[in-house]
Amino acid sequence: MDPAAPQTGELVVAGGEHIPPLLKEIEERLRAEALGYGAPLQQFGEATIAAGGKRLRPLLLLLCAGPPENDQQRAAMVRAGAAIELIHSATLVHDDVLDQADLRRGKPTVVSLAGRDAAISTGDLLFARAFLAITESGDAEAVQLLSDACSALARGELLQRADSWDSGISRERYLERCELKTARLFEAACAIAATISAEPAPELASFGRKIGVAFQVLDDVLDVSGPAARTGKERGTDLLDGTVTLPLIIARENDPSLASLELRSVESAAAAEALCDRIAASGALEHSRAFALELVASAKQELPEELDDRRRGSLELVADSVVSRYS
Ligand code: IPE
Ligand code: IPE
Ligand code: MG
Ligand code: MG
Repeated sequence: MDPAAPQTGELVVAGGEHIPPLLKEIEERLRAEALGYGAPLQQFGEATIAAGGKRLRPLLLLLCAGPPENDQQRAAMVRAGAAIELIHSATLVHDDVLDQADLRRGKPTVVSLAGRDAAISTGDLLFARAFLAITESGDAEAVQLLSDACSALARGELLQRADSWDSGISRERYLERCELKTARLFEAACAIAATISAEPAPELASFGRKIGVAFQVLDDVLDVSGPAARTGKERGTDLLDGTVTLPLIIARENDPSLASLELRSVESAAAAEALCDRIAASGALEHSRAFALELVASAKQELPEELDDRRRGSLELVADSVVSRYS
């Protein structure tokens, strides 16, 4: 692992002393939301939350908002942070149905353990709990921002299905999908933080959107590079479910023998692994990383001038972590 890559613990330290207790409160709220229902759904919701994850979106929200100035702000940050992570978790449970994925956060997915109906209902439950949490704040703007992000996400996931198996899709179309299915939630985390702390919302939102796209590009790189032991997800999942991402788009440009490849012919995990190796050998992963790095550099330019040095520094570190991560 690259020792220069900022890890989540480092980001927490960079954010300041107020961050760890707030993250702990968000964690408690998450557990309470996942547990506060009955059998049989509660066990799947709880397992999804308990499996962990980087908690990057709540962290981003806290870093954007800065230290709370009073109890009311503090409570709003905890509620919003929990709501964002619940939405994210809900989308993962649903996404694993769509992508027919077996492994998530190093554990079997809800769909692989309990089937499609249980997974859809678990995701619905987590969505419902998220909106309950955000509505408690009485902040209609925050509810609207979260709802907009969820609507974009739904569109993005459907667009991805519509594009399945089409190896000829353009970079523009790919980036549109990344923005809808991933970046809008990052953007919402930043924009909601701005409403809580009265920071300049458009700049922070734009920062969030750009690092969100870069984050998805890296996720797509990790799908090809693996290994599953580090990413917590099976290598080559995107190829097996017909999802064409930037590494494959670039590999097809770099390697003529890949340009004629019919994705539907990749039917087994072994065939997907072999194709991952060919994509990696074409140099496409380095190119994709370079693209994400450019986006991150441009995101940093968006950070508002008014930000104090500590907040700016910690947000720059988050932006760097998005492209230097290994899971
Ligand atoms: C995975 O997100 C889904 C994408 C948007 C690519 P994360 O990589 O943040 O997942 P966890 O929460 O850490 O498991
Ligand atoms: C992101 O896309 C999924 C969501 C935004 C829900 P992926 O399908 O690539 O995410 P992973 O790789 O399954 O986490
Ligand atoms: Mg997926
Ligand atoms: Mg992925």
